[in-house]
Amino acid sequence: MNNVVKVERPSEAANIAVIVIDNPPVNAIGQDVYEGLLTTFESLAKDSSVSAVVIAAAGRTFIAGADIKLLEQAARGEGGRLYLHPLLEIIETFSRPVVVALHGTSLGGGMELAMSAHYRVASPDAQMGQPEVNLGIIPGAEGTQRLPRLVGIAAAVDMCVSGKPIKAPEALRLGLIDRIIEGDLRKGSIAFAREMATRGSHPRTRDRKEKLGSPELNAPIFAAGREQAAKIRRNMKAPLAAIEAIEAASSLPWEQGLDREREIADRCLASSESRALIHAFFAERGVSKIPDIPKDIRALEIRKAAIVGAGTMGGGIAMALVNAGIPVILKDSDQAALDRGMDAIRKNYDVSVKRGRFTPEIVEQRIAQIHPQLGYDGFQDADLILEAVFENLTLKKQIFAELDKIAGPQCVLASNTSTLDIDAIASATSRPERVVGLHFFSPANIMRLVEIVRGAKTSKELVATALALSKKLGKVGVVVGNCWGFVGNRMMIPYMREAQFLVEEGATPAAVDKALYDFGMAMGIFAVDDMGGIDVMWRVRQERKHLDKPGIRKPLMTDKLYEMGRLGQKTAAGWYRYDENRKPIPDAEVEALIRKTSQEAGIPQRSITPDEILDRCLYIMINEGARILAEGYALRAADIDTIYLSGYGFPGYRGGPMWYADSVGLKTVLDRIVGFHRQHGELWEPAPLLRQLAESGRTFASWDADQEKRFAPQ
Ligand code: NAI
Repeated sequence: MNNVVKVERPSEAANIAVIVIDNPPVNAIGQDVYEGLLTTFESLAKDSSVSAVVIAAAGRTFIAGADIKLLEQAARGEGGRLYLHPLLEIIETFSRPVVVALHGTSLGGGMELAMSAHYRVASPDAQMGQPEVNLGIIPGAEGTQRLPRLVGIAAAVDMCVSGKPIKAPEALRLGLIDRIIEGDLRKGSIAFAREMATRGSHPRTRDRKEKLGSPELNAPIFAAGREQAAKIRRNMKAPLAAIEAIEAASSLPWEQGLDREREIADRCLASSESRALIHAFFAERGVSKIPDIPKDIRALEIRKAAIVGAGTMGGGIAMALVNAGIPVILKDSDQAALDRGMDAIRKNYDVSVKRGRFTPEIVEQRIAQIHPQLGYDGFQDADLILEAVFENLTLKKQIFAELDKIAGPQCVLASNTSTLDIDAIASATSRPERVVGLHFFSPANIMRLVEIVRGAKTSKELVATALALSKKLGKVGVVVGNCWGFVGNRMMIPYMREAQFLVEEGATPAAVDKALYDFGMAMGIFAVDDMGGIDVMWRVRQERKHLDKPGIRKPLMTDKLYEMGRLGQKTAAGWYRYDENRKPIPDAEVEALIRKTSQEAGIPQRSITPDEILDRCLYIMINEGARILAEGYALRAADIDTIYLSGYGFPGYRGGPMWYADSVGLKTVLDRIVGFHRQHGELWEPAPLLRQLAESGRTFASWDADQEKRFAPQ
């Protein structure tokens, strides 16, 4: 017993010991919980008045996993590895029945602990899962050995590879739990424990073999699991490692299976994959820490929203808002555009119905909450007005001047601009402190990232409101400064530019995309350009034309594609051709045009390796990231990583571009950039911060650590 683990003896059943874990917010197992449980079981073992034990948890959930701070230390090789084995041994071999009462989301180490008990009961809405794969590890506290014994090989493989939790009824069907308790879980689990106490023997999970199958039966299950892993966890090692450990459970005696599991778990924990994923986990949790914005600042509640512009983004954002219970007015200046917008919304929802995500009734309710119109009626009551018209500064300023006249005094005025100056937009109003950028990503109902662009005068309350709103929408809000392209696009434009230079020098769009896809990007950059729309980038370039410097190399192809009407997926032709399934097909016509254009421009042709493709695409992005950091437009390198992981399809197991640079070694990155600078000129000028860190043997992560110290209250 200690301050996080207590024992109660209920008045209605004094022979039952109820152990209550109380370690808010999610009862994570750290050293305290572990030791509390261990000493409690040691003392209960000597207490003959106890005829059964219930392990329960206070608060909103049973144990939601191990303390990830400890995992992080362990992944760095700095100790911290919590071996639960002695505790699990005591629980499983306890001479009287041990019942675990599950509620909320029991995950990871919480489930491993629960599976060592003799019985498990759960409230009807409880969920259970082994999400370790999300951190690049396996359920290494005997989970890969006990789970298949309870649920069978196929379900164990599925749970460990997908990492997705299952619901109580499914858990009951699979044998993960023994009973669902309707009503009071505490009372129900005590009654269940009393009932079990009358039995002579209690099942130990380790002794169960009936669901372990046979080599012949299991072989196709493991093969299917590996296929599933390749599909949903491309390039990752952890899901395959989990399958390997489950294989050991099915073929080896208990003790040997445990040894094998430990070996595999240690290997995973020491992998770059798990370090990157653990970094990504903390990076995402860290983004809402803004040094000059206190945690308790009041965020405004957004109860009603209005959107100007019913195009791709306006429609997607409307869906994101109504999905979170916020009704929306959707305005466009053009009836046909409004109709197209509502049609697109309906089509998107139809896909969700087909995939079983929503029922048709829910979809009807959601669509009824989106009110299409041409005028500004009702805007005066909106808590948030979000502008998503064409990317054109003059147009946006005109709209904001109109909104200034209509919006209520408390209203949040937001722009979804992807590159333009928020201060210039705000200057069209009499209240620049009420203006913020809310840069959603396409498709906005799905993509998790929102860049929150803080203008020079944006109020703290507004930033806090934007962060709270992002959370309410189930998204990750990252606060960024107001520079051209903000963080994500400011880095993506040079990345896209470099990819185009590569094709002008002899690569094909498909070869560039393949190198990026094989690296782990969700899509190649040319496929991304086609999806976003060649016209969208064309508009961006028009806004920047006056800044073009003579003598600096410019990509030659996209304007040509735009002029040919090859706008990407929307016209079934861009860098690729598209069939009816929107599959990109390399197009000989485009490739011939690229060769002709390069020849006319006198660009020498050569064969380009996938390594060069990667270095040029990624390092130009990282170099820009270093400038953004030094200029203060992102608070932390980890924020940039979160932006790329949640909005740009960067693979989680590489931790984001800045983490990736650290893992390659900044000196190596710098040397390569210096080489490219020599070869390709001005656009490759090394960023001073990158040079400084590389030359002093440091990392972006260490720069972040220094930032945190600077942010800390004195
Ligand atoms: P879009 O071309 O699909 O939609 C723009 C809509 O605004 C059209 O329906 C048009 O009729 C309407 N509109 C134009 N002038 C208007 C006015 N005066 N009043 C009301 N409605 C008007 O454009 P999209 O792609 O939705 O982009 C909108 C904004 O979002 C742009 O600033 C863009 O840079 C930004 N953005 C676009 C992303 C993308 O992937 N397409 C991603 C993130 C931001």
